[in-house]
Amino acid sequence: MPEAGGMPATSLASRSLAAVWHPCTQMQRAAAVPPLAIVRGEGPWLFDDTGRRYFDTSSSWWVNLFGHADARINAALKDQLDTLPHVMLAGCTHAPAVELAERLSALTDGVLGHCFFASDGASAVEIALKMSFHYWRNRGHATKREFVCLRQGYHGETLGALAVTDVAVFRDAYDPLLMRSHQVMSPDARQALPGETAADVALRAAAELQALLAESHEHIAALILEPLVQGATGMAMHDPAYLRAARALCDQYEVLLIADEIAVGCGRTGTFFAFEQAALPGQPQIWPDLTCLSKGISGGYLPLSLVLSRDRIYEAFLDDDVARGFLHSHSYTGNALACRAALTVLDRFAQDDVLRHNRQHAARLTAALAPLKTDARIEHLRQTGMIWAFDVCEPLVGPRFAERFHLAGRERELLIRPIGRTVYLMPPYLLDERLSSWLAERVLATLDDVLNQTFTDLDNADRPPEPPTA
Ligand SMILES: Cc1ncc(COP(=O)(O)O)c(C=O)c1O
Repeated sequence: MPEAGGMPATSLASRSLAAVWHPCTQMQRAAAVPPLAIVRGEGPWLFDDTGRRYFDTSSSWWVNLFGHADARINAALKDQLDTLPHVMLAGCTHAPAVELAERLSALTDGVLGHCFFASDGASAVEIALKMSFHYWRNRGHATKREFVCLRQGYHGETLGALAVTDVAVFRDAYDPLLMRSHQVMSPDARQALPGETAADVALRAAAELQALLAESHEHIAALILEPLVQGATGMAMHDPAYLRAARALCDQYEVLLIADEIAVGCGRTGTFFAFEQAALPGQPQIWPDLTCLSKGISGGYLPLSLVLSRDRIYEAFLDDDVARGFLHSHSYTGNALACRAALTVLDRFAQDDVLRHNRQHAARLTAALAPLKTDARIEHLRQTGMIWAFDVCEPLVGPRFAERFHLAGRERELLIRPIGRTVYLMPPYLLDERLSSWLAERVLATLDDVLNQTFTDLDNADRPPEPPTA
């Protein structure tokens, strides 16, 4: 068995490199950054097989809301495990799925009245795309078969989801396999021209969307977007004015609006659904036609995704003809354990005033990160809800920035994975005063460590800029 990074061949990390094909990883490079062998989790902390702890700054790929091994989710799962771990959802149903669908619909004031279950985020995106096309087909508009997505958007790695994704490193190799989609300007506020506000950028982006819809709406089934924060591209944040404009344009041109809330849902941006921030204060709530949820909905425990749809979409599939139904399925659709975990997550929101506490957490960490405001080495310090990000200035980045930052972070008890030159924090909803100060102090120290490194390895310095890895 090969030795990796000086580790004994019998270590978990070495065995992993020999047997496991890790996700989102160039395995040739993996030995230089051997995987942490995590043996235990508790709250925001992960512990490796040497007993070292790491703060999970990205909530394990944005899934973990209330910490690892949360007592309440554990108890609910143990109960569900002894009652009904799983049963197929075609021809059968079960209380956790029904209750979850009912409660999520209630959170949209009943506007998104039906819930279709799947497992990973990308499968929810596939469902939303297929549903949109099939909806129009059932309504006699089979020409509406194209999709619009935003530049810098990310919706997952399966072929349909990649076709509406614009992150080159994930997409380009498969481009010949992908259906063609329309890409329009991202409302990313970092593109502001001198004198422009974030809302101005949003309106500029919306004008591009309008031009496309005006010309091609007869062929367009749906627009898909990540409301408020485009995550995997590097936490690109935008003004809610874009969501208002997109909603109005989709209504005007009869195009469905899919909100991919896989990363930004479940309170991450300050409201349970990010799209709730679309309406102007005091104005009636506006909603998308389809919403995809995953990641945080099951608290970081089990794969669960779902698509919430308006009743008029659901009703368009009702027919004597089986083929006009939505026949999509996955084996673990609506897994009872995953749904039970999700119900416990919703209990937390209902009982623990999570959104209000998050506002306090957010204010504390923002205050603790204040030194970054005047740090000339970084730009675009930004925050939306429980997401913080900044970009290290291009000339200072150096080779393999994300990897070096990650490794330096490990030394300071952080599990942190920048995306390209964007450093971001998306921590579990567990930040008290002490932890906020600690986290900010460690992030700043890691930044110093990395930017003070010197490079003698010219080969490395000549490497092309590294791709983002979420
Ligand atoms: C906005 C968004 N959509 C879809 C996905 C895909 O989800 P999954 O990785 O669970 O397939 C992700 C994953 O990061 C995401 O951020």
